[in-house]
Amino acid sequence: MTNISIARDLRIGSVLIGPPVVQAALSGYSDWPMRLLARRFGASYVVCEVMLDKFLLAVKRRSRTRHFLHLTDDERPVGGQLMGAEPEEFAAGAVKLVEAGFDIIDINFGCPVRKVLGRCRGGFHLSQPAVALEIVHRTRDAVPAHIPVTVKLRRGLDDSNESRDRFFEIFEGAFRAGVDAVTVHPRTVRQRYEGPSTWDFLAEVKRLAGSRIVLGSGDLFTAQDCINMLQRTGVDGVSVARGAIGNPWIFREVRAMLAGQPVPAPPTLAEQREVMLEHYSLAEQLYDVKLCGPVMRKFGIKYSALHPRHVTVRDDFSRVRSREDWQAALDRWYTHWSGEADEAALSQPNAPQPPPDAVE
Ligand SMILES: Cc1cc2nc3c(=O)[nH]c(=O)nc-3n(C[C@H](O)[C@H](O)[C@H](O)COP(=O)(O)O)c2cc1C
Repeated sequence: MTNISIARDLRIGSVLIGPPVVQAALSGYSDWPMRLLARRFGASYVVCEVMLDKFLLAVKRRSRTRHFLHLTDDERPVGGQLMGAEPEEFAAGAVKLVEAGFDIIDINFGCPVRKVLGRCRGGFHLSQPAVALEIVHRTRDAVPAHIPVTVKLRRGLDDSNESRDRFFEIFEGAFRAGVDAVTVHPRTVRQRYEGPSTWDFLAEVKRLAGSRIVLGSGDLFTAQDCINMLQRTGVDGVSVARGAIGNPWIFREVRAMLAGQPVPAPPTLAEQREVMLEHYSLAEQLYDVKLCGPVMRKFGIKYSALHPRHVTVRDDFSRVRSREDWQAALDRWYTHWSGEADEAALSQPNAPQPPPDAVE
């Protein structure tokens, strides 16, 4: 039975989000096709991959990188996230995101990539609360009042007490500056993705936040993980990241669980095939034809995790260069393997067998 309080609709400032399960910002992944599919399967809100303020100030509508700013009404509400070093440029970049049509502006103070830290961006700001808060103030001032501004934070730069104090200084200061929600990924910047995400820290943050909106991130790989995080930490919403790449079905499962309904069966291979074909078609609407193969290769590798022969299927997707390759991989693995009947047929002595996987 679903606990009513965890099924409460999420609101971020003026934007009613709905059931408290959203798709995180994912650099290299949360482009328009991924976001659209996530919304269709039940993510209540989706966030674009992070963009640099400098990039936003330079980008031209007709340039090769315009796809970063492509959004459509059927994916709303959609958040635009940005990253930068200088408060003034940051705020100007945020205005560009508003002009592009994003519904919520999210500030990234969490990215742990070395090059990003070296340029005093992303997670680096966790070491300098004064600059971080100036960015928040300037961004809030520059963005029209009806558009919510939010912040994404990691737990700190490292495990020291100073890092912890700086986290809370930024967290409290950001709300005082007028942000409408904070998403917390409770790993440190130093930790990157190693080791578990500290959900106890999330619980502590939410207790301190009271009615202020906190979303939780970290180790949400299944629908049950999402329910567990909501129940154990009391956060107002869950932000699904790696668990949603190649698995948009996670959102319908969380939605069903939140509504106290039976959890839908995992997608059949036929269903996966249909969505993967649709994903490629959406990518073709966004990218130059030559870019589609390399972009979709990454997704194919992730989709393959749901396939019973995932290692072999993953290797096949890793060679995709074009729509023909994508179609051929789907025909090889998602047609003959389209359900229990086919599995049974394949286990017959004379049935054609797919090559055995090296490791599974
Ligand atoms: C490939 C990848 C790209 C990411 N890109 C972003 C990003 O652009 N902005 C952001 O705030 N977080 C980004 N993150 C962090 C995720 O949003 C999330 O906080 C983190 O992966 C923890 O959640 P998980 O353990 O459930 O994956 C990224 C993570 C990964 C793995």
